[in-house]
Amino acid sequence: MTRHFLRDDDLTNAEQSSILDLAVELKRDRFSARPLAGPQTVAVIFDKSSTRTRVSFAVGIADLGGVPLIISTANSQLGGKETAADTARVLERQVAAIVWRTFAQSGLEEMALGTTVPVINGLSDEFHPCQLLADLLTIREHRGQLAGLTVTFLGDGASNMAQSYLLAGATAGMHVRVASPVDYAPTDAVVADARRAAEKTGGSIALYSDPTEAVAGADVVVTDTWVSMGKEEEKAERLTTLGSYRVDTDLMGLAARDALFLHCLPADRGFEVTADVIDGPQSVVWDEAENRLHAQKALMAWLLQQ
Ligand code: CP
Ligand code: NVA
Repeated sequence: MTRHFLRDDDLTNAEQSSILDLAVELKRDRFSARPLAGPQTVAVIFDKSSTRTRVSFAVGIADLGGVPLIISTANSQLGGKETAADTARVLERQVAAIVWRTFAQSGLEEMALGTTVPVINGLSDEFHPCQLLADLLTIREHRGQLAGLTVTFLGDGASNMAQSYLLAGATAGMHVRVASPVDYAPTDAVVADARRAAEKTGGSIALYSDPTEAVAGADVVVTDTWVSMGKEEEKAERLTTLGSYRVDTDLMGLAARDALFLHCLPADRGFEVTADVIDGPQSVVWDEAENRLHAQKALMAWLLQQ
């Protein structure tokens, strides 16, 4: 049966771990896997802007022996005149896989139901699972393990990044803490799913409103923009409400002494993180951005083998 990657908990702990192992191997020996040789084409569709996702998928598909077909929905029929299901039926006859960055998660589900080729979530309003594979790879590289580590996400707890940390971190056996104002808390359904995943792996989930409590002793500190794509109209309100969740050196000082700082980028220095943190010695954001390439190549190679 075709496997898709629409949310982080589509993978078991063992599957997540073997994809990360393959990513390490592909990082060491970049052109050692050629599952797209032919060359086969992968469609990479964008309803929203992107730098990292666009570049890392285009380069990764080429590295795997294939050809990326980058499609902007602004000048395609998808979204306006044509459904995701019909688009999927057209694409599956010609491409090996579909990557889609979109708004509602339900669009990805419709696309996946309608096709026999793997569909990969390149970011939705709810989740950013490809970014989490890169983040987990980065943490593993710097700490040698994932299970048992404590990771704290601060800021917009209802964002795709926070919700993906809950699911992916729990799947990896991590202790995931999310600190946010009550109006920006992750959805109950995602928290419940993350708790179920954590029960199987020995991880845990904890929600906080106080950023200092949430960060105390953490091995990894993470934040993301306070104004995700699609939320621009709420910008003024968000900058006010989320103001006390800024990651600065004082807050980092409460985490473990050698805690890592991660941010998926793009970053708004001075808002969710200060320049001295993101550009400082604990920040691994450039490794994290590079690891999109290696992690997604491993994901595509793995999905194409199922
Ligand atoms: N982190 C991330 O997904 O970046 P882009 O929006 O540039 O793709
Ligand atoms: N949460 C951000 C991530 C950008 C990569 C957004 O959705 O805009």
